[in-house]
Amino acid sequence: MSTLKAVRGTRDLLPPETELWNRVEATARRVFARYNFGEIRTPIFEDTQLFARGVGEETDIVSKEMYTWDDRARAQSEKAQSLTLRPENTAGVVRAYIEHKLGETGLLQKLYYIGPQFRRERPQKGRYRQFWQIGAEVIGPPSAGSESPLRDAEVLEMLATLLNELGITGWTLEINSVGSATDRPRYLAALREALAPVKHKMSEDNQRRAETNPLRVLDSKDPQDQEIIEKLPKVADYLDEDSKTHFTAVLAALDACGVSYHVNPRLVRGLDYYTRTAFEFTHSGLGAQNALLGGGRYDGLSEAIGGPKAPGIGFAIGLDRLVLTLQAQQEQEQQQAALADAFIAPLGEAQNPAALELARDLRRSGLHIELGDGSFRLKKSFEIANKLARKIVLFGEDELRSGILTVKDFATGEQTKIPRAELARTLKSHP
Ligand code: HAM
Repeated sequence: MSTLKAVRGTRDLLPPETELWNRVEATARRVFARYNFGEIRTPIFEDTQLFARGVGEETDIVSKEMYTWDDRARAQSEKAQSLTLRPENTAGVVRAYIEHKLGETGLLQKLYYIGPQFRRERPQKGRYRQFWQIGAEVIGPPSAGSESPLRDAEVLEMLATLLNELGITGWTLEINSVGSATDRPRYLAALREALAPVKHKMSEDNQRRAETNPLRVLDSKDPQDQEIIEKLPKVADYLDEDSKTHFTAVLAALDACGVSYHVNPRLVRGLDYYTRTAFEFTHSGLGAQNALLGGGRYDGLSEAIGGPKAPGIGFAIGLDRLVLTLQAQQEQEQQQAALADAFIAPLGEAQNPAALELARDLRRSGLHIELGDGSFRLKKSFEIANKLARKIVLFGEDELRSGILTVKDFATGEQTKIPRAELARTLKSHP
């Protein structure tokens, strides 16, 4: 009998990795509590219509990636209901907001969730068919201030705080305004017009998108189409005064609290509900799947699924990717910590005794030193030093005579001349 394995794109999480997951989740809960968010748990499967209407029929998620089935009818008179494993959680949260009439409180609802999502994507590093998200949503009637740019900035500031508390470094916040419902038709018309004469030169997927959902063309990764995409009109040129003022106010609030960002006029998102602010936090360590999290404003989502006007903003962090980033970072930190401060390379056997003396002095000042051998060729010294130490110190006849040593820093590639008296201080200073 063949052995059974976890289904393609799914995986088991085992100790000790689960401890890291728990730590991340606990940190998120702690940070969210400080911003007064409460937890919501919605069902893992929903009526397929929720995603068709909420996320959009023409999106990749809905048109290609959902796990959908017809639930068996209980009686002959009953029609089978089409159900779908949730590919994301925003539509479910907004459905719950409507169903439980949370808008009638007149207050902003601040809800977070942690749970699995399902998309039939091609599995690769950082992309799974069952993956986890930590997300949060702020929704409410306009009278509760749900449209205020302050809400957008507060959510982004909370995310920056969470990533910093988790110790994640090297992230970039990419932000854009994708315009309101009134800007959208003008922009789509401009995109269609610009695409009409060139679309036949594009990939099959983009030819179809140019017809059905031209916004999707913008975030296509197809290399053959990039030149055309570069020249397409930018959404920023089609924003009305309200959308521009809103976006400017979001950026000003981010400036005020020191959250750095990069305005990316090409940023669009893979879900149709976004209006105005859209964002992603990327991380270079993740490779091709570099979005650590994504989110934005969805002022019309509630109405699209039959609810009252309830603008909102939120995000979802890819928990699998967050953990991958933390693991890679920890590994790098451990490797760095294991490195010696310097490798002393005597440039000839005659320098060996003086090099030993130099190593002794540096070690006495508390530095971790590797000592090479004057019989090594320079290339070999560099190869070994590069594996074992942060810096290499070249120690030849000239250096011995002048007391000025050449030091190369492997991290920066910088080579400097340092007087022997200052060597210990220089070797101690690294970021
Ligand atoms: P999304 O951009 O589709 O947005 O997903 C958010 C994050 O989930 C991505 O940035 C990524 O880190 C992670 N993710 C998505 N697909 C996969 C996958 N197949 N494997 C691993 N990780 C994945 C949403 O889902 C929106 N609901 C976010 C939102 C909340 N917008 C407003 N509120």
